[in-house]
Amino acid sequence: MYLITGAGGVVGRRVMDLLLRERGGGGENGEKAAVAAVTRGPGADALPDGVRAVVGDLFHPGWIEPALAGARALQISPRATGPGLGALLRLAAGQGVRRVVLLSATTVDHPAGEARFAAQFRHAEDLVRNSGLDWTVLRLADFAANALAWAPQIRSGDVVRGAYGRAATSPVHEDDIAEVAVHALRGTLPPGPVHTLTGPQSLDQAEKVRLIGAALGRDLTFQELPPERIRQGMLAQGLPEEVPDRLLGSLADYARRPGPTTATVADLLGRPARTFADWARAHAPAFGA
Ligand SMILES: NC(=O)c1ccc[n+]([C@@H]2O[C@H](COP(=O)([O-])OP(=O)(O)OC[C@H]3O[C@@H](n4cnc5c(N)ncnc54)[C@H](OP(=O)(O)O)[C@@H]3O)[C@@H](O)[C@H]2O)c1
Repeated sequence: MYLITGAGGVVGRRVMDLLLRERGGGGENGEKAAVAAVTRGPGADALPDGVRAVVGDLFHPGWIEPALAGARALQISPRATGPGLGALLRLAAGQGVRRVVLLSATTVDHPAGEARFAAQFRHAEDLVRNSGLDWTVLRLADFAANALAWAPQIRSGDVVRGAYGRAATSPVHEDDIAEVAVHALRGTLPPGPVHTLTGPQSLDQAEKVRLIGAALGRDLTFQELPPERIRQGMLAQGLPEEVPDRLLGSLADYARRPGPTTATVADLLGRPARTFADWARAHAPAFGA
């Protein structure tokens, strides 16, 4: 059985879909419900058929011990496990879980944004490395799916307004992350390494907007606004301060120095990484196509 944390997130959902496709929808040894997903509750109804919901808050994970029995591998989203990660890993080791796959971030070794966010990922990596389990760390570039934040603007007009138009990253497609993660969960990647997963091409924000426009058959443009105006807009929408802190800090740094671009997805999967244009075509309906 595979136990997925952050199951309601972009990566968790795709990982569950891929695991469920194993052996015609069953799982290892063909049994049903070979995938279990941890949720605090509200996401339980949205889990795919065949996934067992394990309900509780991983920030205080003592309750989860019985559900770890029989799990062979664990996928960790540091956002979902928060300060409970160390205790969760100790419980997993005690219950005979063999492998752990951590979703970390490129900011650990390519600093961008406020140091406290990279420090959280670095701490999670240290815990996983010292867990006694076979481990894989996936350091992820910004997700292509982050562009969904522009969907309301694109559905209602041809201009996307944001800060730091020159900020450039190589956005990674969630399907590529999920394919690599599933290999790691199954044990078909050698344990131990740290893999830095990015998309194949560095793109600034204006180029990302243009590629979404191309997918929609529309001429979209990016208009740069002062960062403080974007921050105030986010707070006015009711977003917690952490969201603009996280976003604007890293965009400011990526405008000075682009995020990394690696060939790791292609090296691990034996085919080219999916492009941002691929992602935009696949998600065109979310932007009003
Ligand atoms: N987005 C990026 O560009 C990027 C880049 C690098 C790394 N990462 C990291 O990659 C990991 C995976 O991200 P993801 O977007 O696939 O999904 P995620 O943020 O890991 O998963 C979201 C799910 O986690 C659960 N959760 C449990 N406790 C939570 C809490 N205290 N706060 C928020 N959510 C909580 C929620 O499910 P329930 O409500 O069902 O409990 C929620 O649906 C994250 O750790 C993220 O930090 C993201």
